[in-house]
Amino acid sequence: MNESRSDSIVKVIDVIKTFPGARKGLIGRSPDFTAVKGVSFEMYRGELLGLLGESGCGKSTLAKMLMHLLLPTSGEIHLNGVQIQDMPESSFRKLRRQIQMVYQNPFDCLDPSMRIKGLLEEPLKIWYPDMTEETRQEKIDNILEECGLPQNCLSKYPKEFSGGQLQRISIARALLVEPQVLIADEIISALDVSIQNQILNLLIRMKERHHLSILFITHDLSVARRVSDRVMVMQSGEIKGIGTPDQVFSEQSDPYIKDLTSAVFTFSGRA
Ligand SMILES: Nc1ncnc2c1ncn2[C@@H]1O[C@H](COP(=O)(O)OP(=O)(O)O)[C@@H](O)[C@H]1O
Ligand SMILES: [Mg+2]
Repeated sequence: MNESRSDSIVKVIDVIKTFPGARKGLIGRSPDFTAVKGVSFEMYRGELLGLLGESGCGKSTLAKMLMHLLLPTSGEIHLNGVQIQDMPESSFRKLRRQIQMVYQNPFDCLDPSMRIKGLLEEPLKIWYPDMTEETRQEKIDNILEECGLPQNCLSKYPKEFSGGQLQRISIARALLVEPQVLIADEIISALDVSIQNQILNLLIRMKERHHLSILFITHDLSVARRVSDRVMVMQSGEIKGIGTPDQVFSEQSDPYIKDLTSAVFTFSGRA
């Protein structure tokens, strides 16, 4: 982990996150819980890094630390060579545009009381207060086209769209401010398989067109295997393997990964 590649954009060094136990009665406390147990990895420019792991293994906790929404208990997080884990929110604000997140539930980022036009204008107004109305509309038109959304969606409210369309809108909103890193946390988990594929294709297209780094979080091994340039497998707060899908899912991998792979093949009847 000492030598970084020159195209490293995110570097995580030995990050630990412990949640304090909840208070029980007047003096009691449930034990502390360590959700992320000393995780280290890098993300490179223009790659789709899959983060695969079962529910509860610490994926979202890790994502929230990258987003500076949760602070690590210890360890370092570097974004473009700048250590962010200890930064006060006021200093991180300037960097926040560089790393955007899309969630499993689109309503976590789309205010249901706003029309799509307002939802897309909002981040541009925040990040580029001097941008003219004309440029703003041009940027919105372009991103709608890139994300396969019709112009007439602008006058509608989020509840008028299907889950797949809402994820397109969430992706458009995140990418409008031209981040370098996109975190996609289980964004296709609630969608039908055919719609899942459309969203995956959109992500891959955007990655290539904008040289974007994507952390694609999923509990679905076959999806992780199919779309990732590199994949990282997490279990109980630890990284069990990282590399190309062929490397990670090879015969030599960690026993946990072998079990995962054989379970999937058995389950799908391909063993
Ligand atoms: N704020 C919190 N306080 C206490 N425990 C938490 C908190 N957030 C997450 N956890 C616990 O940490 C573990 C990992 O959660 P999470 O990162 O959401 O997993 P994943 O996204 O992989 O499903 C879970 O056991 C969860 O209950
Ligand atoms: Mg999660």
